[in-house]
Amino acid sequence: MPIADAVRASLARGSWIRKMFEAGIALKARLGADAVFDFSLGNPDLEPPPEFTAALKAAAGSDEPGAHAYMINSGYPFARAAMSEKVALEHGVPTTADDIVMTVGAAGAINVILGTVLNPGDEVVVIRPYFAEYSAYVDNHRGVLVVADSAPDFSLDPAAVARVLSPRTAAVILNSPNNPTGRVYPPDAIAALGAVLSAHASRVGRAPYLIVDEPYRDIVYDGLEVPPVLSAYPESIVASSFSKTLSIPGERLGYIAVNPACAEKALLVSGLSTLNRVLGFVNAPALMQRAVAASWRAKADVSRYARRRDMLAAILTEAGIRFAKPEGAFYLFCEVPEGSPAGSSGAAGAGSPAAAPGQTAASPGQTAGISETRDVTFAMALKENGVLSVPGVGFGYPGWIRLCYCVPEKTIEGSRKGFMATMAGWT
Ligand SMILES: Cc1ncc(COP(=O)(O)O)c(C=O)c1O
Repeated sequence: MPIADAVRASLARGSWIRKMFEAGIALKARLGADAVFDFSLGNPDLEPPPEFTAALKAAAGSDEPGAHAYMINSGYPFARAAMSEKVALEHGVPTTADDIVMTVGAAGAINVILGTVLNPGDEVVVIRPYFAEYSAYVDNHRGVLVVADSAPDFSLDPAAVARVLSPRTAAVILNSPNNPTGRVYPPDAIAALGAVLSAHASRVGRAPYLIVDEPYRDIVYDGLEVPPVLSAYPESIVASSFSKTLSIPGERLGYIAVNPACAEKALLVSGLSTLNRVLGFVNAPALMQRAVAASWRAKADVSRYARRRDMLAAILTEAGIRFAKPEGAFYLFCEVPEGSPAGSSGAAGAGSPAAAPGQTAASPGQTAGISETRDVTFAMALKENGVLSVPGVGFGYPGWIRLCYCVPEKTIEGSRKGFMATMAGWT
Protein backbone atom coordinates (compact mmCIF):
# COMPACT_ATOMS: atom_id res chain seq x y z
CA MET A 1 0.00 0.00 0.00
CA PRO A 2 2.41 2.73 -1.14
CA ILE A 3 -0.27 5.45 -0.99
CA ALA A 4 -3.55 5.84 0.89
CA ASP A 5 -6.72 4.38 -0.65
CA ALA A 6 -8.43 7.77 -0.64
CA VAL A 7 -5.55 9.34 -2.55
CA ARG A 8 -5.47 6.44 -5.00
CA ALA A 9 -9.21 6.91 -5.61
CA SER A 10 -8.69 10.65 -6.07
CA LEU A 11 -5.91 10.00 -8.61
CA ALA A 12 -8.13 7.62 -10.55
CA ARG A 13 -10.97 10.16 -10.68
CA GLY A 14 -8.77 13.08 -11.53
CA SER A 15 -10.35 16.45 -12.08
CA TRP A 16 -11.81 17.54 -15.38
CA ILE A 17 -9.70 20.67 -15.45
CA ARG A 18 -6.57 18.60 -15.08
CA LYS A 19 -7.80 16.00 -17.59
CA MET A 20 -8.40 18.68 -20.21
CA PHE A 21 -5.06 20.29 -19.43
CA GLU A 22 -3.33 16.94 -20.03
CA ALA A 23 -5.46 16.29 -23.13
CA GLY A 24 -4.20 19.65 -24.40
CA ILE A 25 -0.57 18.59 -24.08
CA ALA A 26 -1.27 15.39 -26.06
CA LEU A 27 -3.30 17.33 -28.62
CA LYS A 28 -0.53 19.91 -29.11
CA ALA A 29 1.94 17.07 -29.71
CA ARG A 30 -0.47 15.57 -32.29
CA LEU A 31 -1.78 18.68 -34.10
CA GLY A 32 0.92 21.26 -33.32
CA ALA A 33 0.59 24.02 -30.71
CA ASP A 34 -0.85 26.51 -33.25
CA ALA A 35 -3.83 24.25 -33.94
CA VAL A 36 -4.91 23.94 -30.28
CA PHE A 37 -7.07 26.59 -28.58
CA ASP A 38 -6.96 26.05 -24.86
CA PHE A 39 -9.79 27.51 -22.75
CA SER A 40 -9.41 25.01 -19.92
CA LEU A 41 -7.32 26.69 -17.24
CA GLY A 42 -7.97 29.91 -15.27
CA ASN A 43 -4.37 31.05 -15.50
CA PRO A 44 -4.38 34.84 -16.16
CA ASP A 45 -2.29 35.63 -19.21
CA LEU A 46 -2.01 39.37 -18.44
CA GLU A 47 1.30 40.31 -16.84
CA PRO A 48 1.15 41.70 -13.27
CA PRO A 49 0.72 45.50 -13.06
CA PRO A 50 3.98 47.52 -12.97
CA GLU A 51 3.27 48.65 -9.38
CA PHE A 52 3.56 45.02 -8.25
CA THR A 53 6.76 44.35 -10.20
CA ALA A 54 8.38 47.52 -8.81
CA ALA A 55 7.36 46.63 -5.24
CA LEU A 56 8.70 43.11 -5.70
CA LYS A 57 12.05 44.41 -6.95
CA ALA A 58 12.29 46.82 -4.02
CA ALA A 59 11.43 44.04 -1.54
CA ALA A 60 13.96 41.67 -3.10
CA GLY A 61 16.67 44.37 -2.95
CA SER A 62 16.10 45.10 0.73
CA ASP A 63 18.94 44.20 3.08
CA GLU A 64 16.80 44.55 6.18
CA PRO A 65 17.93 41.91 8.70
CA GLY A 66 15.50 39.02 9.17
CA ALA A 67 13.60 39.69 5.95
CA HIS A 68 13.63 35.98 5.15
CA ALA A 69 13.07 34.63 8.66
CA TYR A 70 10.06 32.84 10.16
CA MET A 71 7.43 35.23 11.44
CA ILE A 72 4.23 34.91 13.46
CA ASN A 73 1.92 32.46 11.74
CA SER A 74 -0.71 35.05 10.82
CA GLY A 75 1.81 37.13 8.84
CA TYR A 76 3.65 40.46 9.03
CA PRO A 77 1.73 43.12 10.99
CA PHE A 78 2.20 45.66 8.14
CA ALA A 79 0.80 43.21 5.57
CA ARG A 80 -2.20 42.47 7.81
CA ALA A 81 -2.73 46.20 8.33
CA ALA A 82 -2.79 46.69 4.54
CA MET A 83 -5.31 43.85 4.09
CA SER A 84 -7.52 45.22 6.87
CA GLU A 85 -7.60 48.57 5.07
CA LYS A 86 -8.59 46.80 1.84
CA VAL A 87 -11.33 44.73 3.47
CA ALA A 88 -12.72 47.72 5.39
CA LEU A 89 -13.04 49.60 2.08
CA GLU A 90 -14.64 46.68 0.25
CA HIS A 91 -16.96 45.38 2.98
CA GLY A 92 -17.82 48.46 5.02
CA VAL A 93 -16.75 46.98 8.38
CA PRO A 94 -14.01 48.30 10.72
CA THR A 95 -11.44 45.50 10.31
CA THR A 96 -8.02 45.86 11.92
CA ALA A 97 -4.76 43.95 11.44
CA ASP A 98 -5.88 41.64 14.29
CA ASP A 99 -8.71 40.31 12.10
CA ILE A 100 -6.38 39.18 9.29
CA VAL A 101 -4.39 36.00 8.63
CA MET A 102 -2.11 36.02 5.57
CA THR A 103 -2.35 32.74 3.64
CA VAL A 104 -0.99 30.68 0.78
CA GLY A 105 -3.54 31.79 -1.81
CA ALA A 106 -7.32 31.63 -1.54
CA ALA A 107 -7.06 27.82 -1.68
CA GLY A 108 -4.89 27.89 1.44
CA ALA A 109 -7.30 30.36 3.05
CA ILE A 110 -10.35 28.12 2.47
CA ASN A 111 -8.52 25.05 3.77
CA VAL A 112 -7.37 26.94 6.87
CA ILE A 113 -10.94 28.13 7.55
CA LEU A 114 -12.50 24.68 7.04
CA GLY A 115 -9.80 23.04 9.17
CA THR A 116 -10.53 25.55 11.93
CA VAL A 117 -14.33 25.34 12.00
CA LEU A 118 -15.34 21.79 10.95
CA ASN A 119 -16.00 18.86 13.24
CA PRO A 120 -16.15 15.49 11.44
CA GLY A 121 -19.50 15.14 9.65
CA ASP A 122 -20.29 18.87 9.71
CA GLU A 123 -21.93 20.13 6.53
CA VAL A 124 -20.64 22.78 4.14
CA VAL A 125 -23.13 24.25 1.68
CA VAL A 126 -21.95 25.23 -1.80
CA ILE A 127 -24.04 26.74 -4.57
CA ARG A 128 -24.20 24.84 -7.84
CA PRO A 129 -22.40 25.21 -10.22
CA TYR A 130 -19.35 25.62 -8.00
CA PHE A 131 -15.54 25.70 -8.06
CA ALA A 132 -14.67 21.99 -8.31
CA GLU A 133 -11.96 22.06 -5.64
CA TYR A 134 -14.49 22.84 -2.89
CA SER A 135 -15.40 19.16 -2.63
CA ALA A 136 -11.74 18.18 -2.09
CA TYR A 137 -11.25 20.96 0.47
CA VAL A 138 -14.33 19.85 2.44
CA ASP A 139 -13.14 16.22 2.27
CA ASN A 140 -9.69 17.27 3.53
CA HIS A 141 -11.28 18.35 6.80
CA ARG A 142 -13.78 15.47 7.13
CA GLY A 143 -16.76 17.62 6.29
CA VAL A 144 -19.75 16.76 4.11
CA LEU A 145 -20.47 18.77 0.96
CA VAL A 146 -24.12 19.79 0.50
CA VAL A 147 -25.30 21.47 -2.70
CA ALA A 148 -27.88 24.22 -3.10
CA ASP A 149 -29.16 25.36 -6.48
CA SER A 150 -28.64 28.79 -7.93
CA ALA A 151 -31.52 30.46 -9.80
CA PRO A 152 -31.95 29.39 -13.46
CA ASP A 153 -29.93 32.43 -14.58
CA PHE A 154 -27.22 31.48 -12.02
CA SER A 155 -28.04 34.36 -9.71
CA LEU A 156 -28.06 33.73 -5.96
CA ASP A 157 -31.24 32.04 -4.66
CA PRO A 158 -31.30 32.55 -0.86
CA ALA A 159 -34.47 30.40 -0.52
CA ALA A 160 -32.62 27.47 -2.14
CA VAL A 161 -29.83 27.87 0.41
CA ALA A 162 -32.42 28.02 3.22
CA ARG A 163 -33.86 24.69 2.08
CA VAL A 164 -30.57 22.79 2.56
CA LEU A 165 -29.48 24.28 5.92
CA SER A 166 -29.50 21.88 8.86
CA PRO A 167 -28.29 21.86 12.47
CA ARG A 168 -25.08 20.29 11.10
CA THR A 169 -24.37 23.21 8.75
CA ALA A 170 -21.05 24.67 9.81
CA ALA A 171 -20.46 26.91 6.78
CA VAL A 172 -21.84 28.22 3.50
CA ILE A 173 -19.39 29.15 0.74
CA LEU A 174 -20.31 32.14 -1.43
CA ASN A 175 -18.30 32.87 -4.57
CA SER A 176 -18.94 36.14 -6.41
CA PRO A 177 -17.79 36.99 -9.07
CA ASN A 178 -18.44 33.35 -9.72
CA ASN A 179 -16.33 30.60 -11.19
CA PRO A 180 -17.67 29.12 -13.50
CA THR A 181 -20.69 31.35 -14.32
CA GLY A 182 -19.24 34.88 -14.11
CA ARG A 183 -22.28 36.02 -12.07
CA VAL A 184 -21.92 38.86 -9.58
CA TYR A 185 -24.49 38.66 -6.78
CA PRO A 186 -26.34 41.97 -6.15
CA PRO A 187 -26.77 43.64 -2.71
CA ASP A 188 -30.42 42.60 -2.23
CA ALA A 189 -29.56 38.91 -2.72
CA ILE A 190 -26.65 39.22 -0.27
CA ALA A 191 -28.91 40.90 2.29
CA ALA A 192 -31.54 38.16 1.83
CA LEU A 193 -28.89 35.46 2.33
CA GLY A 194 -27.71 37.21 5.52
CA ALA A 195 -31.32 37.22 6.78
CA VAL A 196 -31.74 33.51 5.94
CA LEU A 197 -28.58 32.59 7.85
CA SER A 198 -29.49 34.75 10.87
CA ALA A 199 -33.00 33.25 11.01
CA HIS A 200 -31.55 29.73 10.79
CA ALA A 201 -29.05 30.54 13.57
CA SER A 202 -31.87 31.74 15.88
CA ARG A 203 -33.92 28.64 15.11
CA VAL A 204 -31.26 25.94 15.62
CA GLY A 205 -28.88 27.76 17.97
CA ARG A 206 -25.89 27.46 15.64
CA ALA A 207 -24.77 30.20 13.28
CA PRO A 208 -23.14 28.85 10.11
CA TYR A 209 -20.07 30.76 8.99
CA LEU A 210 -20.43 32.48 5.63
CA ILE A 211 -17.14 31.98 3.77
CA VAL A 212 -16.83 34.73 1.17
CA ASP A 213 -14.50 33.36 -1.52
CA GLU A 214 -13.75 36.37 -3.71
CA PRO A 215 -10.44 36.16 -5.59
CA TYR A 216 -12.16 37.78 -8.62
CA ARG A 217 -13.55 40.81 -6.71
CA ASP A 218 -11.72 43.34 -8.91
CA ILE A 219 -12.52 41.63 -12.21
CA VAL A 220 -15.96 42.99 -13.13
CA TYR A 221 -17.37 44.51 -16.32
CA ASP A 222 -19.68 47.22 -17.55
CA GLY A 223 -19.17 49.47 -14.50
CA LEU A 224 -20.53 46.87 -12.08
CA GLU A 225 -19.34 46.85 -8.46
CA VAL A 226 -19.14 43.83 -6.17
CA PRO A 227 -21.26 44.67 -3.10
CA PRO A 228 -20.02 44.24 0.48
CA VAL A 229 -20.88 40.96 2.20
CA LEU A 230 -19.42 41.18 5.71
CA SER A 231 -21.80 44.02 6.58
CA ALA A 232 -24.76 41.72 5.77
CA TYR A 233 -24.03 38.91 8.24
CA PRO A 234 -21.85 38.95 11.38
CA GLU A 235 -20.49 35.38 11.22
CA SER A 236 -18.70 35.97 7.94
CA ILE A 237 -15.11 35.44 6.82
CA VAL A 238 -13.40 36.58 3.61
CA ALA A 239 -11.06 34.16 1.82
CA SER A 240 -9.27 35.90 -1.02
CA SER A 241 -6.02 36.27 -2.90
CA PHE A 242 -4.08 38.23 -5.48
CA SER A 243 -3.82 35.28 -7.88
CA LYS A 244 -6.30 36.69 -10.38
CA THR A 245 -6.45 40.42 -9.66
CA LEU A 246 -2.67 40.96 -9.77
CA SER A 247 -2.04 37.98 -12.12
CA ILE A 248 0.28 36.23 -9.65
CA PRO A 249 -1.29 32.77 -9.06
CA GLY A 250 2.13 31.09 -8.91
CA GLU A 251 3.24 33.35 -6.07
CA ARG A 252 0.55 31.99 -3.75
CA LEU A 253 -0.48 35.00 -1.71
CA GLY A 254 -3.89 35.33 -0.11
CA TYR A 255 -5.55 36.34 3.13
CA ILE A 256 -8.40 35.64 5.51
CA ALA A 257 -10.38 38.51 7.03
CA VAL A 258 -12.69 37.78 9.96
CA ASN A 259 -15.70 40.02 10.43
CA PRO A 260 -15.02 42.13 13.55
CA ALA A 261 -18.67 41.48 14.51
CA CYS A 262 -18.06 37.72 14.75
CA ALA A 263 -19.15 36.44 18.20
CA GLU A 264 -16.00 34.35 18.85
CA LYS A 265 -13.62 36.48 16.83
CA ALA A 266 -10.51 36.20 19.03
CA LEU A 267 -10.83 32.42 19.35
CA LEU A 268 -11.49 32.07 15.63
CA VAL A 269 -8.45 34.15 14.63
CA SER A 270 -6.22 32.14 17.01
CA GLY A 271 -7.58 28.92 15.50
CA LEU A 272 -6.98 30.16 11.95
CA SER A 273 -3.43 31.18 12.75
CA THR A 274 -2.74 27.78 14.33
CA LEU A 275 -4.22 25.91 11.35
CA ASN A 276 -2.05 27.98 9.02
CA ARG A 277 0.91 26.52 10.94
CA VAL A 278 -0.21 22.92 11.47
CA LEU A 279 -1.47 22.41 7.91
CA GLY A 280 2.17 22.98 7.02
CA PHE A 281 1.90 26.41 5.44
CA VAL A 282 3.51 27.92 8.62
CA ASN A 283 3.07 31.42 7.20
CA ALA A 284 2.37 33.04 3.83
CA PRO A 285 5.43 33.75 1.62
CA ALA A 286 7.45 36.58 3.21
CA LEU A 287 8.64 38.28 0.01
CA MET A 288 5.13 38.32 -1.46
CA GLN A 289 3.66 39.82 1.70
CA ARG A 290 6.14 42.68 1.32
CA ALA A 291 5.49 43.15 -2.38
CA VAL A 292 1.70 43.01 -2.12
CA ALA A 293 1.46 45.14 1.01
CA ALA A 294 3.06 47.90 -1.09
CA SER A 295 1.05 47.33 -4.30
CA TRP A 296 -2.41 45.91 -3.47
CA ARG A 297 -4.19 48.99 -4.82
CA ALA A 298 -2.95 48.25 -8.36
CA LYS A 299 -5.50 46.69 -10.71
CA ALA A 300 -5.40 44.33 -13.65
CA ASP A 301 -6.45 45.94 -16.94
CA VAL A 302 -9.99 44.55 -16.91
CA SER A 303 -10.80 46.19 -20.25
CA ARG A 304 -8.61 43.55 -21.90
CA TYR A 305 -10.63 40.73 -20.34
CA ALA A 306 -13.83 42.54 -21.36
CA ARG A 307 -12.63 42.62 -24.98
CA ARG A 308 -11.85 38.90 -24.88
CA ARG A 309 -15.23 38.15 -23.32
CA ASP A 310 -16.95 40.03 -26.15
CA MET A 311 -14.82 38.35 -28.85
CA LEU A 312 -15.58 34.88 -27.53
CA ALA A 313 -19.26 35.73 -27.02
CA ALA A 314 -19.51 36.82 -30.67
CA ILE A 315 -18.02 33.54 -31.89
CA LEU A 316 -20.34 31.46 -29.68
CA THR A 317 -23.35 33.43 -30.87
CA GLU A 318 -22.33 32.88 -34.48
CA ALA A 319 -21.90 29.16 -33.79
CA GLY A 320 -25.35 28.98 -32.13
CA ILE A 321 -24.11 28.18 -28.62
CA ARG A 322 -26.02 29.85 -25.76
CA PHE A 323 -24.16 31.11 -22.71
CA ALA A 324 -24.57 33.13 -19.52
CA LYS A 325 -23.06 36.57 -20.20
CA PRO A 326 -20.34 37.03 -17.57
CA GLU A 327 -20.56 40.06 -15.27
CA GLY A 328 -17.18 39.29 -13.72
CA ALA A 329 -14.26 36.82 -13.47
CA PHE A 330 -13.04 35.38 -16.81
CA TYR A 331 -15.21 32.34 -17.48
CA LEU A 332 -18.03 31.76 -19.96
CA PHE A 333 -20.48 29.04 -18.96
CA CYS A 334 -22.16 27.65 -22.09
CA GLU A 335 -25.21 25.48 -22.52
CA VAL A 336 -24.55 22.39 -24.60
CA PRO A 337 -27.01 22.36 -27.51
CA GLU A 338 -29.47 19.49 -27.91
CA GLY A 339 -28.10 16.70 -30.07
CA SER A 340 -25.10 14.46 -30.42
CA PRO A 341 -22.15 14.07 -32.75
CA ALA A 342 -23.22 13.17 -36.29
CA GLY A 343 -22.89 9.42 -36.83
CA SER A 344 -23.28 8.52 -33.14
CA SER A 345 -26.08 6.19 -32.08
CA GLY A 346 -28.26 8.89 -30.49
CA ALA A 347 -28.49 11.83 -28.14
CA ALA A 348 -25.95 11.74 -25.35
CA GLY A 349 -27.23 11.62 -21.77
CA ALA A 350 -29.27 14.66 -20.92
CA GLY A 351 -26.85 15.82 -18.31
CA SER A 352 -28.98 15.78 -15.20
CA PRO A 353 -27.30 17.33 -12.17
CA ALA A 354 -24.85 15.14 -10.22
CA ALA A 355 -26.84 15.33 -6.98
CA ALA A 356 -30.21 16.77 -6.03
CA PRO A 357 -30.16 19.95 -3.93
CA GLY A 358 -29.57 19.19 -0.29
CA GLN A 359 -27.98 15.87 -1.09
CA THR A 360 -24.38 15.17 -0.52
CA ALA A 361 -22.68 15.76 -3.86
CA ALA A 362 -21.34 12.56 -5.41
CA SER A 363 -17.90 14.02 -5.99
CA PRO A 364 -17.84 16.68 -8.63
CA GLY A 365 -14.80 16.47 -10.80
CA GLN A 366 -15.06 12.71 -10.82
CA THR A 367 -15.40 10.85 -14.05
CA ALA A 368 -17.00 7.63 -12.83
CA GLY A 369 -20.53 7.07 -14.10
CA ILE A 370 -20.94 10.35 -15.95
CA SER A 371 -18.94 9.68 -19.07
CA GLU A 372 -22.01 9.74 -21.33
CA THR A 373 -23.41 13.11 -20.18
CA ARG A 374 -23.86 15.61 -23.00
CA ASP A 375 -21.30 18.09 -21.68
CA VAL A 376 -18.56 15.45 -21.71
CA THR A 377 -19.48 14.35 -25.24
CA PHE A 378 -19.55 17.98 -26.41
CA ALA A 379 -16.21 18.80 -24.76
CA MET A 380 -14.70 15.76 -26.48
CA ALA A 381 -16.16 16.84 -29.84
CA LEU A 382 -14.68 20.32 -29.35
CA LYS A 383 -11.34 18.75 -28.46
CA GLU A 384 -11.36 16.82 -31.74
CA ASN A 385 -11.61 20.24 -33.41
CA GLY A 386 -8.72 21.64 -31.37
CA VAL A 387 -10.77 23.51 -28.71
CA LEU A 388 -10.26 22.66 -25.04
CA SER A 389 -13.05 23.34 -22.54
CA VAL A 390 -14.10 21.85 -19.18
CA PRO A 391 -17.35 19.84 -18.91
CA GLY A 392 -19.89 21.25 -16.43
CA VAL A 393 -19.98 17.98 -14.51
CA GLY A 394 -16.64 19.12 -13.05
CA PHE A 395 -18.60 21.95 -11.39
CA GLY A 396 -21.53 19.77 -10.27
CA TYR A 397 -23.52 20.97 -13.31
CA PRO A 398 -23.69 18.60 -16.29
CA GLY A 399 -25.17 19.84 -19.56
CA TRP A 400 -22.93 22.92 -19.69
CA ILE A 401 -19.25 23.58 -20.38
CA ARG A 402 -16.85 26.22 -19.09
CA LEU A 403 -14.55 28.27 -21.31
CA CYS A 404 -11.85 30.33 -19.70
CA TYR A 405 -11.07 33.48 -21.71
CA CYS A 406 -7.93 34.76 -19.93
CA VAL A 407 -6.08 33.74 -23.07
CA PRO A 408 -4.45 35.72 -25.90
CA GLU A 409 -6.82 37.23 -28.46
CA LYS A 410 -5.25 35.15 -31.21
CA THR A 411 -6.36 32.00 -29.33
CA ILE A 412 -9.92 33.29 -29.34
CA GLU A 413 -9.78 34.29 -33.02
CA GLY A 414 -8.23 30.96 -33.96
CA SER A 415 -10.89 28.94 -32.14
CA ARG A 416 -13.73 30.11 -34.39
CA LYS A 417 -13.17 27.33 -36.94
CA GLY A 418 -13.22 24.69 -34.20
CA PHE A 419 -16.53 25.91 -32.74
CA MET A 420 -18.15 26.10 -36.18
CA ALA A 421 -16.88 22.63 -37.19
CA THR A 422 -18.09 21.12 -33.91
CA MET A 423 -21.55 22.61 -34.33
CA ALA A 424 -21.68 21.50 -37.98
CA GLY A 425 -21.08 17.93 -36.78
CA TRP A 426 -23.56 18.14 -33.86
CA THR A 427 -27.04 17.24 -35.01
C1 LIG B 1 -13.51 30.38 -6.95
C2 LIG B 1 -12.08 30.14 -6.64
N1 LIG B 1 -11.69 30.10 -5.35
C3 LIG B 1 -10.41 29.87 -5.01
C4 LIG B 1 -9.44 29.71 -5.96
C5 LIG B 1 -8.03 29.46 -5.54
O1 LIG B 1 -7.26 30.61 -5.79
P1 LIG B 1 -5.72 30.71 -5.38
O2 LIG B 1 -4.93 30.47 -6.62
O3 LIG B 1 -5.54 32.08 -4.85
O4 LIG B 1 -5.45 29.68 -4.34
C6 LIG B 1 -9.79 29.74 -7.32
C7 LIG B 1 -8.78 29.51 -8.37
O5 LIG B 1 -9.05 29.33 -9.53
C8 LIG B 1 -11.15 29.97 -7.67
O6 LIG B 1 -11.55 30.02 -8.95
